[in-house]
Amino acid sequence: MDEVQRLAASAVANVLAGRSLDAELRAVSGRPSLTPQDRGALQDIAYGTLRFLGQLDAMLDLLLERPLKDARVRDLLRVALFQLAHTRAAPHAIVDHAVRACIALNAPAAKGLVNAVLRNFLRKRDALLVEARQTDRGRYSHPQWWIDKLRSQHPSLAEAMLANANLHPPLTLRVNARRLSVDAYLASLESEGIAARALGGSAVMLERPVPVERLPGFAEGDVSVQDAAAQYAAPFLDVQPGSRVLDACAAPGGKTAHILEIGEVDLIALDNDPARLERVQSNLTRLNLNARIVCGDAAQPAQWWDGVEFDRILADVPCSASGVVRRHPDIKWLRRPHDIARFAARQSEILDALWQPLAIDGKLLYVTCSVFREENQEQIEHFLARHQDARHLTLPGPHTNAQQLAGQILPDEQHDGFFYALLQKA
Ligand SMILES: C[S@@+](CC[C@H](N)C(=O)[O-])C[C@H]1O[C@@H](n2cnc3c(N)ncnc32)[C@H](O)[C@@H]1O
Repeated sequence: MDEVQRLAASAVANVLAGRSLDAELRAVSGRPSLTPQDRGALQDIAYGTLRFLGQLDAMLDLLLERPLKDARVRDLLRVALFQLAHTRAAPHAIVDHAVRACIALNAPAAKGLVNAVLRNFLRKRDALLVEARQTDRGRYSHPQWWIDKLRSQHPSLAEAMLANANLHPPLTLRVNARRLSVDAYLASLESEGIAARALGGSAVMLERPVPVERLPGFAEGDVSVQDAAAQYAAPFLDVQPGSRVLDACAAPGGKTAHILEIGEVDLIALDNDPARLERVQSNLTRLNLNARIVCGDAAQPAQWWDGVEFDRILADVPCSASGVVRRHPDIKWLRRPHDIARFAARQSEILDALWQPLAIDGKLLYVTCSVFREENQEQIEHFLARHQDARHLTLPGPHTNAQQLAGQILPDEQHDGFFYALLQKA
């Protein structure tokens, strides 16, 4: 376990230096010394440490008499504290392995300190957990600027949003309407002993996540993994038989596939990232669906547009991803306050460019997985001010809760945070 702890600590350090957690885990998970269980543990520990980083740091500050000089030892302590506070692994084993990891880190002098800090945590655990909640960062495990922004933009909901962002995300599936009904799929899950329930539309949420290989019919294309809020996109786009559709930021193709599952349409899947476009192709192949896949910049239609207008455009634009933090806890530490304005500027370039190839009466669905107003409501207000020929439509039912009516789906136990705006060209 000491190798797993060291690798998790180094992944956390690299995320805090600006790298994405998935890239970090991909880089180390191929090591021959790691068993499949080690790989699972490494992922859980790295994700969990980042999920609760504010709390862990607050407790560490209370436990340390003076700041630690060796950043690697601090990262190791963060990881071991996460394991002690949030997992069921045997505490003595966690402490022993962390002490051993000091040797592998070439920091043998830190062994005594690591041992003392972790044992001290075990003695004072309950009091430390309470005391860590005295600061916002310790209580919510988000950067202070993020907490402040949510409080000012969603005053009555910020507390719940921050708490939800630290939950484990559910595994939600989209049942392929071309192949079977939600009820039929629920029955086949039940026969495999996998507990699940319908969430409306094509969405089925598992009570406990399982590897996709255990899902009946996954390889055959019966289901795909997709959050419930992401599954609103295709129905909101309201495609008609024969519609000419552009999915302008398509990779890895979750929404592309959903559109094709529910409509007989002529679809172009565009993205500017060739590696991610390969994932669109493999998803469509598994689901036995077809689209024209094009690599290009959505903000530069001259690169890829043949001049024939689109009836529907899906603009699932790059964004801060502030609505999907429970799935990607690295995001809250990777983002900087000024990133939000940068995303908003890029999004408005893409939106303006995509308005041109949209047919009169055609509809464009703007989507982000963000909960920040600059990328959402304000983006659309500015767009409407720039484009007199744009009408902001009410989103089609049957999703009728109050937040959705305004387009903002706030993250809760069943949904990631998404924003939708349906625009029509007059
Ligand atoms: C939120 S993701 C899309 C998710 C996808 N719609 C789905 O449901 O699976 C945003 C995508 O936009 C792509 N992207 C970013 N900038 C772009 C641009 N200027 N033109 C086209 N695609 C872009 C990214 O490569 C990324 O795949």
